[in-house]
Amino acid sequence: MREDLLRGGGLLFTDSNVFALYRTQIEKYLGGVPVYVMQAGEAHKNEQTLFALLRAMSENGLRRNSTLIALGGGVVGDIGGLAASLYMRGISCVQVPTTLLAQTDSSVGGKTAIDFCGVKNLVGAFKQPERVLADPVFFETLPKREIRCGLGEIVKHGALCSAIFEKLWENRDRLFDLGFLGEIVPMNIAFKASIVRQDPYERSLRASLNLGHTTAHAIELSSSLSHGECVLLGLILEGKIAERRLGRDGEYGKLLDELCLRALGSMPKFELSEETALCALHDKKNRAEGKVRLTLSRSLGTFEFLELPFGEYVKELKEVGSC
Ligand SMILES: NC(=O)c1ccc[n+]([C@@H]2O[C@H](COP(=O)([O-])OP(=O)(O)OC[C@H]3O[C@@H](n4cnc5c(N)ncnc54)[C@H](O)[C@@H]3O)[C@@H](O)[C@H]2O)c1
Ligand SMILES: [Zn+2]
Repeated sequence: MREDLLRGGGLLFTDSNVFALYRTQIEKYLGGVPVYVMQAGEAHKNEQTLFALLRAMSENGLRRNSTLIALGGGVVGDIGGLAASLYMRGISCVQVPTTLLAQTDSSVGGKTAIDFCGVKNLVGAFKQPERVLADPVFFETLPKREIRCGLGEIVKHGALCSAIFEKLWENRDRLFDLGFLGEIVPMNIAFKASIVRQDPYERSLRASLNLGHTTAHAIELSSSLSHGECVLLGLILEGKIAERRLGRDGEYGKLLDELCLRALGSMPKFELSEETALCALHDKKNRAEGKVRLTLSRSLGTFEFLELPFGEYVKELKEVGSC
């Protein structure tokens, strides 16, 4: 594989945590390949890291037929994909996702980005990877909170795909079990890939993947909770809005809430203020001035959009948040 991947030269891009954990394996399998290591964390998903990586690619003589290997979580994958799309107007990128979130969500679909001017993922490009190599062995070193983060997206996929929902429900007592995760990851990759294949540029169907995410992003921006925790909360809160506004199927709603709570462990402390709602008003998914756009699910496997004037969204959020 090494020769195959790097016929035209290449560079391995990773972060400081992954490098510390997997240095021996990297040296064993990719010895001699230059490595660029970024500081781990979302705070470094910025233009400084992007340009430092592009500089390392240039200094190591990468050419048009070279390959960038992005080994890490969603942060490494997003920056690596963007650098590969920019360098010489586009070189090959192989994604080796090492978190549950990256394997089930961010490495599939070709969205790449950095955060810019205080806005998440403001600068990016669509760049499909040459290959995605997802190995559950990486989960053995993942902290529980990072597993929960990935479960947020897996439960979201479950709301849209009945096979995933059933698998989650049957295994609701072992959501954190690595054996179970190894089984459910391929189902999630296949599901996301099928959506992306039908709607690569998010003109319609791909927007279903924003389920729970408007409120999730708003809580994420105004609390210290992780993205996955916020997605699980977003699914619960927007689920209640779907119940009130669309008459969501009660039985399905009960099971979905139960899965979210099991993934969360216990209900985290968070505040729903007007400030939280204001973050939702500035979400990039909104289309009309002064309105918040939600992706809601009325029954298993379905989705629809609801646009609420800001005042109504604040009222809904406060009421469902206190239920
Ligand atoms: N492109 C997309 O479609 C898409 C979709 C969802 C999320 N994202 C982006 O993905 C990012 C979040 O991804 P993430 O949750 O993977 O975060 P991350 O990349 O920051 O990884 C989380 C933490 O786990 C560490 N880590 C990675 N692999 C590990 C392993 N095997 N063992 C131990 N520790 C490990 C990392 O160093 C980091 O500290 C966000 O920036 C988000 O915007 C992108
Ligand atoms: Zn998400």
